[in-house]
Order: sequence, then structure tokens, then C-alpha cells
Amino acid sequence: MIKIHNLSKIYKTKSGSVKGVDDVSLTVHEGEIYGIVGYSGAGKSSLLRCINLLERPTSGTITVDGIDLTSLKGEKLRLARLRIGMIFQHFYLISQKTVYENIAFSLKAAKTPANLIKARVEELLEMVGLTDKRDVYPAQLSGGQKQRVGIARALTNNPTVLLCDEATSALDPTTTKSILDLLKRINKELNITIVLITHEMKVVKEICNRMAIMQEGKVIEEGTVYDTFADPQTELTKEFIKSVVSFELPDAILNKCQGTIVKVMFKGDVAGEGIVSDMLKQFEVKGNFLHGSIEYIQEAPLGIFVMELMGESEETNKALQFIENRSAQVEVLRDGV
Ligand SMILES: Nc1ncnc2c1ncn2[C@@H]1O[C@H](COP(=O)(O)OP(=O)(O)OP(=O)(O)O)[C@@H](O)[C@H]1O
Ligand SMILES: [Mg+2]
Repeated sequence: MIKIHNLSKIYKTKSGSVKGVDDVSLTVHEGEIYGIVGYSGAGKSSLLRCINLLERPTSGTITVDGIDLTSLKGEKLRLARLRIGMIFQHFYLISQKTVYENIAFSLKAAKTPANLIKARVEELLEMVGLTDKRDVYPAQLSGGQKQRVGIARALTNNPTVLLCDEATSALDPTTTKSILDLLKRINKELNITIVLITHEMKVVKEICNRMAIMQEGKVIEEGTVYDTFADPQTELTKEFIKSVVSFELPDAILNKCQGTIVKVMFKGDVAGEGIVSDMLKQFEVKGNFLHGSIEYIQEAPLGIFVMELMGESEETNKALQFIENRSAQVEVLRDGV
């Protein structure tokens, strides 16, 4: 478990001080994949680098597996940090070393006995699917393969936590998917807690359990990924969600509509279309579907429909009440004209 408590990071620069992280408190549970989202400059990397003390916080504490890292120094801090692996957007592999040597290097740095290194590197190569690339140099690898080496290297010392700084941002969508699948597998099979930062909501939707949104060094919203998608609280979060789930209707379509325009949301396993068709049968209203999809936040469905309802306003209200009573969330986007 990672507990971040009142953490701030202030950078002193020639032109004054810059707040990278501003009083952040967060808890990441054991075994979870936690996503931190925000635009460039929001403080994501600063926060992540404070978790393993790559950056020393200006104030506040970081507790990992019950140990307050901010109170440690020297050898004790070095040993605690071995349990926290990290991967980066630009991989940072050593170009003069082969894949095998890149991974072995981390084991040597952690003072692993020489006779154990070969078996461990081979085991890691197998885990990330790079056994056949063991003797090639980074320049001969694709981006996805380089990130796999990065992941193997981060896992060398059996970490309990893996920190990922924009680990898929330099990769195409298909490669991104394969790296996310690998991270998911590592999380499940090795029970490694993952904290990942990204500016892509798609990544969070694909693999995270819970998430935080950062702006100007602060966490402005936090919760399960599902609830955040279903019920975003801040404008910034809504903006991020729009990048993956958009229900914007073209003006030309809206201008043609005379009826009440509603957005109806069904959470979980509620069969949305069935309820809507029951409503249309029972009440004197006509409905036009304008937009709709069922999003899957990992395996959990979230159905969202935008409809135009035409009928007397009293009857329309009754119809909406009917679906609300069947556990749908209804938002009137525009009243009938
Ligand atoms: N070493 C540093 N010295 C001075 N200011 C810094 C330093 N590192 C970060 N900052 C400042 O702290 C703020 C947060 O930066 P940070 O790199 O954490 O953002 P980020 O969310 O990771 O952005 P990006 O998505 O571009 O990577 C920015 O205003 C940045 O200019
Ligand atoms: Mg960053």
C-alpha cells in the first residue's frame, strides 16, 4: 500500500519557486492499478518521482508497505527503493549493452550474487516475451520491445510497486494495447501494485481500478474509474472523458429536433434498451435515438443513450420518472420547443 500524505514539491528556479506538487494526499491500495491523469505541467511526473524519492518532497510523507520513505537515508533508503520499479516514456536503455546486459545490469547494481543473475534474466525475458531478442542491442528493437526491456529491468529486484511515467505515450495504439496487457498480467500474476501516469484517458479506462485527476499540482478529483466515467465532478474530468466517450451532437441534428432531448445512463448490468422500449410502450411519448453506446470500463458496462422524446410534457415527465425508477440516471439536455 502507498500512502501519500500532504505531499508538496516546490522547485527553486532562478525566476522564483514553482509548485510541482501542491499538498497531495492519496492512498493506493495493495494490488491495485491506479491512474493519475492530467495535462502537461499538472505535476504528474513530479508526484510519481516523489513516490520513490527520485525527487525529495519539500514537505509531506510517502509510506510504502508501512515504511515512511521520507524518514530514510543512505543504505536503508537504497534497499527500500529496490522494491519500487519504474518505467519511462523514453525507456532509458543503455544503448551499448544488449537486452540481456541491460537487465543484468540492474541485478548487478542491486548486488545480486553472480550465479543467480543468468537464471533471473532468462526468467524475466520469458515473462516479457523477449527470449529471442536477448543478444540484440536496443537500436534493433521496436518501441514496444524497448518498453518490454524497460519492464523486465524494472522487475529485476522483485518490486512490490511499479511506477509508470507515460509508459505507452510513445507507442502506437496496437503496441500500447500489448504493453497494457503485459502490465495487467504483471499486476495479477505477481501481485504488483501499479501507479501509472498518463494524459490518455483511454489508458486509464483500459486498465486502472481507481484514478486521480491533477491540475496545477493538486488532485482535483479522485475515485473509481467507473464512477469517474459515470459521474464526473469537475469540468476538467468531463473534458478528459470526452476524449474517449463523446456524446456531442452536431448542431444541424439538434436544430431539427423539436422534442425534449435527454441523456439516459444505465450503470452495471441493467438492460437499458429494454427499459427504454418498455417506457415507449407504456407512455404516450415517441422516442428517437440520437446517440448511444455501451462503454465497458474494463468488464463493467455503462450504457449511455441520447434520445429525443416527443409528447405532452406531463406524459414525458412520467416517462422519465419511469426510467429513473428503474435505476437509470436521466439528464435533460434541452427542453422541447
Ligand atoms: N526540475 C524542475 N525544476 C523546475 N521546475 C520543474 C522541474 N520539474 C518540473 N517542474 C515544474 O513543475 C510543474 C509540474 O511538472 P511535471 O513534470 O511534474 O508535470 P507533468 O504533469 O508530468 O507534465 P507532462 O505531462 O508534460 O510530463 C511544471 O510547472 C514544471 O515546469
Ligand atoms: Mg511528466
